[in-house]
Amino acid sequence: MTIKTVLRLGDPILQQRSIEVDDPDSYETQVIIEDMFDTMHEYKGAGLAAPQIGILKRIVIFGFESNPRYPDVDSIPETILINPVIEILSTEKKDDWEGCLSVPGLRGLVSRPDHIRYSGYDKNGAYIEKEVKGFHARVVQHECDHLDGILYVQRMKDMTKFGFISELEQNDIYNSSLCDTCEE
Ligand code: NI
Repeated sequence: MTIKTVLRLGDPILQQRSIEVDDPDSYETQVIIEDMFDTMHEYKGAGLAAPQIGILKRIVIFGFESNPRYPDVDSIPETILINPVIEILSTEKKDDWEGCLSVPGLRGLVSRPDHIRYSGYDKNGAYIEKEVKGFHARVVQHECDHLDGILYVQRMKDMTKFGFISELEQNDIYNSSLCDTCEE
């Protein structure tokens, strides 16, 4: 149980492709998953990918009851996804604001498919599959992008919709009731 430092934009590890996990139920994998949850909770993130703590393995976690960084969205059950696969179910894309623990203090508008099915393995090595929409679908895509070395900033089309939260809010470009004491 260790809170790790989240790597930030500019660290070349974040640009690398992570490798498949051969042994989802191994002790080593359980330790990585525990450290990821400890770290995600400490940083109050909605999700985290293993490369963000310097481990280039295809493991993501996500979920929260309520999240001060995203106060207006519905809760997502805490999920561990190993070797995830995403299937796009709608060609229709939606724009929404994203943040990332590796890009602290900033938000950007990203267009993504709104309806997906994801599959993968849990920490016992059991196969899981789920169809999701909206913010849930967005979080899963954002986290899985990390496994291919992609940060949300690289998905952006309009860089005028990118900036520090405080400046975006002051200029009515982005609005939220974000808790200003929480860690980014
Ligand atoms: Ni991220």
